[in-house]
Amino acid sequence: MGFNIKSYLAAKRELIDRKLDSLLKYSPKSLTTLDESIRYSSLSGGKRLRPILMIASNEAFGGNEETVLPIACALEMIHTYSLIHDDLPCMDDDSLRRGVPTNHNVYGEAVAVLTGDALLTDAFNIMVTEGLNCGLRPKVLVEIIADISQAAGSSGMIRGQAIDLALEGITDVLIDQVDKMHSLKTGALIEVAITIGAKIGGANDKEIKKLSTYAKALGLAFQIVDDILDIEGGKQLGKEVGADARNKKTTYPELVGSKKSKKRAEDLTKKALKSLKDFDDKATPLREIALYLANRNF
Ligand code: IPE
Ligand code: IPE
Ligand code: MG
Ligand code: MG
Ligand code: MG
Repeated sequence: MGFNIKSYLAAKRELIDRKLDSLLKYSPKSLTTLDESIRYSSLSGGKRLRPILMIASNEAFGGNEETVLPIACALEMIHTYSLIHDDLPCMDDDSLRRGVPTNHNVYGEAVAVLTGDALLTDAFNIMVTEGLNCGLRPKVLVEIIADISQAAGSSGMIRGQAIDLALEGITDVLIDQVDKMHSLKTGALIEVAITIGAKIGGANDKEIKKLSTYAKALGLAFQIVDDILDIEGGKQLGKEVGADARNKKTTYPELVGSKKSKKRAEDLTKKALKSLKDFDDKATPLREIALYLANRNF
């Protein structure tokens, strides 16, 4: 039987959900809603794209998913924190996330900020403790932590988010500047997911370079499609449609229109696929994920 992308994604999602559930077994403390809030945002859906990409990229080198799973889950925790903060009134002021009310709408802004802080910090604790437990060599683990902190911090995702806010309401923005913003706010975590999966799988520098090209193209395409869906998406998106226009965001469709944006996303997907041309069948999931994401409506 051929490869079925939907079953592949569903199986990996289940694996990640189960692991996250076990990692986030905070003891209920009656004095605060923090623990409940952490679980609320971490276990209420989500595509789990970044951890799945880490696993898929590891598989391209014959890796074992149990070794990458804790790091993959920790990266998903960082992504979830970024969404909680992204939705706050001082940022995108959104009311719906993953099909349920945003964290601050349920627990209040202060707990939402703290929930994000906790997820970010706990993610690094999990990387260290679980990473060593599942057999990663300390030197490799330190490299992984350096890569992830770089991708998530002020030279990666956070810089992208700051640029996103700085460009609100500005109309004379160049495409290159939007590319830069997208590559940082969204591309950085996607790229690090993929390169770390490969690194743990034993990839050499040349292979990692090719995967970086795949990841950069995929990350940019992913955010362009996200911007298109913010205009054209339906209920299955699980978040508010029209939020970008409301916030006067600088987006791809806003700048060049929907048709050109779709074409760019298609071209980027082709570029991503091309960069995998020297890889064998073990990279099938990476290829199929790129195609699947390009045509998504969620
Ligand atoms: C949303 O990411 C934020 C962006 C970077 C576009 P996802 O679309 O991966 O969100 P979830 O994790 O599936 O909810
Ligand atoms: C968010 O981009 C990127 C990060 C959270 C880092 P968006 O603001 O477009 O994401 P959504 O559309 O709210 O998911
Ligand atoms: Mg945003
Ligand atoms: Mg947003
Ligand atoms: Mg968006």
